[in-house]
Amino acid sequence: MNYKPSYKYIPPITWSFLTPFYDFFCAIGGLGGRFKMKILDSVALSDGLVVADIGCGTGVFLKVAKQKHPRVTFMGLDPDRQALAIAERRLAKANLDVELTEAFAESLPLADGSVDMVFSTLAFHHMPDEIKQKAIREILRILKPGGFVVITDFGPSSKFLFSWLLPVFENVEYLRGNLQGHIRKYLQEAGFVDIDIRADISILRLELIKATKLVYAS
Ligand SMILES: C[S@@+](CC[C@H](N)C(=O)[O-])C[C@H]1O[C@@H](n2cnc3c(N)ncnc32)[C@H](O)[C@@H]1O
Repeated sequence: MNYKPSYKYIPPITWSFLTPFYDFFCAIGGLGGRFKMKILDSVALSDGLVVADIGCGTGVFLKVAKQKHPRVTFMGLDPDRQALAIAERRLAKANLDVELTEAFAESLPLADGSVDMVFSTLAFHHMPDEIKQKAIREILRILKPGGFVVITDFGPSSKFLFSWLLPVFENVEYLRGNLQGHIRKYLQEAGFVDIDIRADISILRLELIKATKLVYAS
């Protein structure tokens, strides 16, 4: 990976020494396999599709997704080597063929129009606002026309957590844009259409935003 971020990178659970415990924290916070399955089930997948999980972390989503849809090609991308190593072990243990790549969302090593669907879960609140915008433009670039993205993350309806729990673990500066509804705004500004928002995901009241890349009429 040649790209180096010019901002402070935030590991899965704020400090890298906690990365081995990320799955444990997810499980007790209601963000484990069942939560990932709920995200997967928010859309219909068919055999032969190519799907990328951006900011895939330790690979729990990729595992449940590949087990449910063995004929879909899944790939996981994340800048964190430690998290990717956990994902690699998890997928190998389950005998699942999923390609993992070290990459930042704002600089994706994927060709234009090469992916049918993108998922990104809890990664956008790890990015400063201008990086959220770049990541959304990258996702638009790699998607095929008519393809879509599903971003699940903190949004305006998670504000109630902001005052107490989150500042302990998370970078408040990066989180602010999420809480102000910037993800949906940036999707709209980038040209995504049919933006659909569900604000009842998990006890943390995360937002699940689905947005489609326009198919231009010729
Ligand atoms: C809270 S974890 C979520 C992991 C996984 N998606 C999940 O739901 O369990 C956030 C992830 O975002 C990744 N991340 C941080 N900055 C990123 C960036 N600029 N581009 C892509 N991923 C990033 C971190 O390495 C981490 O794995």
